[in-house]
Order: sequence, then C-alpha cells, then structure tokens
Amino acid sequence: MIRSVVQGCGSYLPERVVTNADLAKTMDTSDEWIQQRTGIKQRHIAAEGELTSHLALAASERALAHAGMKASDLDLIVLATATPDETFPATATRVQAQLGMTGGAAFDVQAVCAGFVYGLSVADSMIKNGLASTALVIGAETFSRILDWNDRGTCVLFGDGAGAVVLRAEEGKGTSADRGVLANALHSDGRQHDILYVDGGPSSTRTTGFLRMEGKEVFKHAVVNMATVVGEVLAKAGFETKDIDWLVPHQANKRIIDGTGRKLGLPPERVVVTVDRHANTSAASIPLALDTAVQDGRIKKGDLLLLEGIGGGLAWGASLVRW
Ligand code: UT7
Repeated sequence: MIRSVVQGCGSYLPERVVTNADLAKTMDTSDEWIQQRTGIKQRHIAAEGELTSHLALAASERALAHAGMKASDLDLIVLATATPDETFPATATRVQAQLGMTGGAAFDVQAVCAGFVYGLSVADSMIKNGLASTALVIGAETFSRILDWNDRGTCVLFGDGAGAVVLRAEEGKGTSADRGVLANALHSDGRQHDILYVDGGPSSTRTTGFLRMEGKEVFKHAVVNMATVVGEVLAKAGFETKDIDWLVPHQANKRIIDGTGRKLGLPPERVVVTVDRHANTSAASIPLALDTAVQDGRIKKGDLLLLEGIGGGLAWGASLVRW
C-alpha cells in the first residue's frame, strides 16, 4: 500500500507586519473590534514587487531543507493559490524554474481557503496512482493585492504568506499506524458563490477585482461544514475524535476555530492557532500553522493530525495525516 509520507515542511512570511492599531490609523476600525470578532492581532503584508511565487519559493526551500532533500528529488509541484502571479502560466511553474527543477510536472490548484487540503489530496492521489513519487505541496497567497482597502468588513481579516510540505511515496502496511496521508474528503457547493467571491477575472471583467464577502453567512456554513467533513474523514480512516493529536484548521477566525474544536470535544491545547499573528492567509494558512507547530516542537513524528479548511466556492475539505 503506497502512502504519501511527509518528509519535511517550511513556511515564509513577508517582513512587514501590520498591526490592528496600524489599520485603525487609516480606517474606521479598532484593535478591540478586530480582536473580539476574529482573534486577529496582526498580519504580514508582501512588499511592493514581492509576488506569490517569491513567498512560495522561500517556503519551498525551507521545506526541502527540513526534509534533507533537493529540488532534483521532486517530480511534482502542486501550488494552491487564488492569487497567482499571472493569469497564466501556473505560478507553480515559476517556482519550479526558480528551484532549478527541470523535470516532472508543476501546476496550480484553485480552491481558495480550502486550497491546501485540495492540493494535498491531488498530490496524494497522484502519488498513490504512480503519477508522481515525490511532491512539493505549497499554499501561497498575496491576498493583500485583492483586498478593497476601503472595505473595513474584509480588509482587516487577511494577510500574506506561504507554507509547504514535501511528500514522498513510501510502502505502508495499510494500517492506521502507517505514517502519511491516511484519508481525504473534499466538497464544494457552487450555489454559495455570492457569499464569498472576487468581483473580477480575465473572462468576466478583464480586471483582477476585489474580494467580496458576506461574513455572517460564511461563518454559519463554516461551523456546520467543518464539523461534518471532519467526521467524514475520520470515519473513512476508521478513527474517532479522541484519536486526534492535533487539529490544524484553516485560520480565518478564532471563533470558528473554537467552535469547531468544541463541537469535536477537543481541548484547546490540541488545536493549533496562528490566526492572531498571521490573520487569514487563505491557502497558506494551514501549512503556516503546521510549520509553526512543528518548529516549536508541538507536532511530533507519529502524531495524528486533522487538517481542515473552507473558503470561496464554497469549497471545503479535510485531510487526516499521520505525521
Ligand atoms: O477564509 C474564508 C472564510 N471566511 C471566513 O470564515 C469569515 C467568516 N466570517 C467572519 O469571520 C465574521 O463574520 C466577520 C469577522 C467577517 C464579521 O464578524 P460579524 O460578527 O459577523 O460582524 P458583522 O459583519 O455582522 O458586523 C457587525 C458590525 C457592523 O456594524 P453595524 O451594522 O452592526 O452597525 C459592521 O459595520 O461591525 C461593523 N464592522 C466593523 N467595525 C469595526 C465591520 N467591519 C468592521 C471593522 N471595524 N473592521
């Protein structure tokens, strides 16, 4: 039984930190409102000329170093992003070139905040089907470029960043003790388009557009769908909530994270939270949270992790990974 086993991870955040107090200087908002509603204290914002591919490259180099591997070991890059450098080609191909990887395949996956779970599922499926043996899965975003900085209801919520993991095909025994990706579950519901979307694009307006969101509606869907998909992925792999060592959720809002943890009956000490420091970095948020908890020693080899996220589409999903 082939398993996609994590060999290493890495992440990168742009240097510039913007606090809630900084935002309150230029718009009608407050540190108190942002913290109370979301748990966010600060976010990182990419510098002028700093692109999604640059963030992705930095995270990828760290992930490869952590794995003790080289770009030439890879035969697949899957980059999850909703903020590509250009409409085409895939930003993943830029990362491929900058890493010096000349073989294999590189492409982008677009599932917004669920992007990392989608990317992981795609790479895992390709590894299991023999289409790839060693994959870099990246979540990277420069959401600051698609924010309407006059809309205080959305612009305070997001940040920029990137995270990556390296997966390699390894023979498993097919048991729950195997390391690697153990199960994935993906969903979308296109009827919910209007509650979270970008009002531009090459085929519609020929502009990039800005993010539009009905926050309360998204919130409701998030709490319900996250609890359901988590149950689904656990059942697929024959686990129960009590088996989870770490919940590594998409970091959109501390209240959503707490709500999901409570529904699952998981104590807060087993939930990784980075939304306070990173804000919502869309596809980058899960690998950023993962890398944070690996670097500080919380997540250890053999731990059972549950990753989950939801975003525009709506698209959502979960993955169960034995680290
Ligand atoms: O990653 C993709 C998934 N996205 C999400 O999961 C986001 C889910 N939604 C949320 O996190 C929350 O709905 C928000 C944080 C976006 C908003 O929280 P809320 O409790 O739903 O607030 P609201 O939008 O209903 O706004 C409440 C009030 C409004 O004022 P009135 O109409 O009650 O007078 C807003 O105008 O807060 C006002 N408001 C603000 N005040 C200060 C909205 N944005 C701000 C702001 N600063 N930045």
